[in-house]
Amino acid sequence: MKIVTTIADAQAQPHAKPRVLVPTMGALHKAHSELIRIAREHAGRDGEVAVSIFVNPLQFEPGSDYERYPRPEKADEEFCRNAGVDLLFRPLRDEVYEADRSTFVEETSLSSTLEGKSRPGHFRGVCTVVAKLFNILAPDAAVFGEKDFQQLAVIRRMVRDLNFKIDMIAVPTVREEDGLACSSRNQYLNPEERKQAMVLHKALLAAKNAGKKSANDVIGLAQKVINESAQARIDYVEVADAETLKPVEVVSTNSVLLLAVFFGKTRLIDNTRLA
Ligand code: PAF
Repeated sequence: MKIVTTIADAQAQPHAKPRVLVPTMGALHKAHSELIRIAREHAGRDGEVAVSIFVNPLQFEPGSDYERYPRPEKADEEFCRNAGVDLLFRPLRDEVYEADRSTFVEETSLSSTLEGKSRPGHFRGVCTVVAKLFNILAPDAAVFGEKDFQQLAVIRRMVRDLNFKIDMIAVPTVREEDGLACSSRNQYLNPEERKQAMVLHKALLAAKNAGKKSANDVIGLAQKVINESAQARIDYVEVADAETLKPVEVVSTNSVLLLAVFFGKTRLIDNTRLA
C-alpha cells in the first residue's frame, strides 16, 4: 500500500484504471470495510482502490466535535493495509486548505433541509472537500454509505451539476448486531447511551413495518419508540422524498424516513426506505 500525504505526490502517481475512491474521515470501522470491499469489487483485480483520510474542518459547525473527532492514525493505516487498499491519501489540514482560500462548492437545494438545517454550512464543507478529492485523485468511481443518505444525494447532485466523470456507488448501511448503524461517532457513547441508542433502529423498523400511509403517523410512531429511551433527545424525524428530500405527506415507494437524535452530546443519524 502506497501512502501519500501531499497533493503534488497524489497527482504525480501513475495509477491503474479504474481507480475507485473511498473518501473517509478515518476512525475506520466495519462499515468502512464494506465500502472498501465494494470498491475492490468495482475496481477488479487490475484496478486500484484509493482511500482518503481527512478530518475536514469545513464540515464541522463551530462548537462541534472537530477537535475531539478520533484520529487513530496507526490503526487506520493498518486497517487499510489489511483491507487490501492500494493507495492511502492522508493529507494534513494545511495541505488541503490554503490560509486565504476563498472558493467553495455549494449545493443549494438538497442541502437546505434536514442535516443542512441543523448543521448550517455542513454540506458546503462536504461538497468542497469531496470536489477537491475528486480533482486531486481523479477517480473513475467513488463509494459512499447510505447511512449518510442526504450526503449521498447532495454529492450525486454535485457530480451531475459539475459534470464530474465519476460513477457514484452507494452501499447499504452496515449495522451492529443490535441494529445501531456503524459510525465513528458511536465511540463517544457511554455504555448506557450505547444501550439506549438501539431504539433508533427499533424506531425505523417499527415505522417501516407499520404500513402506514400518513407521513405524520409514521413520524409519530417513530418518535414514540425513540422516546422509550429516557436519554434520547430528538433533533428531527422526517419523511421525505428520496430524490428531492422534500417532506411528503403521503408515504409512497420513494419515501424515506430520516432521523437525527442526541444521546448525551452525541448526535446520531439514521434512515430507512419506507417501502
Ligand atoms: O462521510 C464522510 O466521512 C465525510 O463526510 C466525507 C464524505 C469523507 C467528506 O469529508
